Amino acid sequence: MSSVNYQPRKVLVTGGAGFIGSHFIRYALGQDPNLIIVNLDLLTYAGSLKNLENLPDEKRHVFVKGDICDKLLVEKILHEYNIDTIVHFAAESHVDRSIEGPAPFIQTNVVGTFTLLEAARKAKLSRFHHISTDEVYGSLTPDAPAFTEQSPYAPNSPYSASKASSDHLVRAYYHTYQLPITMSHCSNNYGAYQHPEKFIPTVIRSCLKKQPIPIYGDGSNVRDWIYVEDHSRGIMDILTKGRLGETYHLGGQCEISNLQMAQMICKLMDESCLKLIHFVKDRAGHDWRYAMDISKIYQELNWQPAESLCEGLRETIQFYANAKELEHESH
Ligand SMILES: NC(=O)c1ccc[n+]([C@@H]2O[C@H](COP(=O)([O-])OP(=O)(O)OC[C@H]3O[C@@H](n4cnc5c(N)ncnc54)[C@H](O)[C@@H]3O)[C@@H](O)[C@H]2O)c1
Repeated sequence: MSSVNYQPRKVLVTGGAGFIGSHFIRYALGQDPNLIIVNLDLLTYAGSLKNLENLPDEKRHVFVKGDICDKLLVEKILHEYNIDTIVHFAAESHVDRSIEGPAPFIQTNVVGTFTLLEAARKAKLSRFHHISTDEVYGSLTPDAPAFTEQSPYAPNSPYSASKASSDHLVRAYYHTYQLPITMSHCSNNYGAYQHPEKFIPTVIRSCLKKQPIPIYGDGSNVRDWIYVEDHSRGIMDILTKGRLGETYHLGGQCEISNLQMAQMICKLMDESCLKLIHFVKDRAGHDWRYAMDISKIYQELNWQPAESLCEGLRETIQFYANAKELEHESH
């Protein structure tokens, strides 16, 4: 199984003002001194230019505020910057919001991906990497083996269904039009710059403010957690060494229940916060367990996660503690 060597030069990153996209930009600029990145982001509630502070070389990063569904804008960017590669993160990404109002999820995740694929096809790009999620496979029982790249799709939320739809389009563009795609499915990410509405920032911020820590149901739902920098490195490995048309799984090899995760954060921060944990009404259709089999990417590209959960959490906690201090100073 030979992998190809590909050198991206001018990359359009979509959703690069979000959590994972901003980390990827920082990582990619630091890795390759010749890389130029154009970052197309609509700056929805989830995106922030603050996530892009301290880039290794600001001059090689161009920010464009705009919508991935805007066909003319996307075509203009591909042409004007002579883009050879798209790395596609932009999405509506919060499951709870997709339950309350699915429409933006269909628009951005499905129509937006379609718009990018069409533009990429017309411009004859050299590479299109699509970021997907473990959630498209649905839920695992406690003893079931982890999801592999052959697992059947079974999305359970409007979010995961919209991501699954976009995956199918990406796959179809490879088979129908030979668009040179790669795709990755990743488990839950954690790290600095994640939006406060997500689980780990919620727990950390609640501990910092000594406020109740809300946990869905009885907290027994299990997730696999990956440090966001390991995810960025995995994407770069797939982009530069992965086989065309292939899907690769990325995960932290770190399954833990939501309750255990909250307890671990409390113990790392201040054990007295354990008493702040309280259980709230479960999310509708809450998937019980996700787990990723990463043997394919390990065998083909020699990728595996490097950061331990304990160390990654310490760094994440430090980031939110510093951010809280800054909040205070600015008031
Ligand atoms: N966060 C995770 O744990 C996780 C796990 C697996 C996969 N993913 C996938 O990774 C990708 C990034 O996730 P994230 O957690 O960084 O999300 P995020 O919500 O933090 O960031 C999404 C970014 O996309 C931008 N955006 C939204 N709609 C847009 C549009 N129409 N046009 C242009 N920009 C738009 C937002 O402004 C934001 O900056 C998503 O595709 C998500 O499905 C996330």
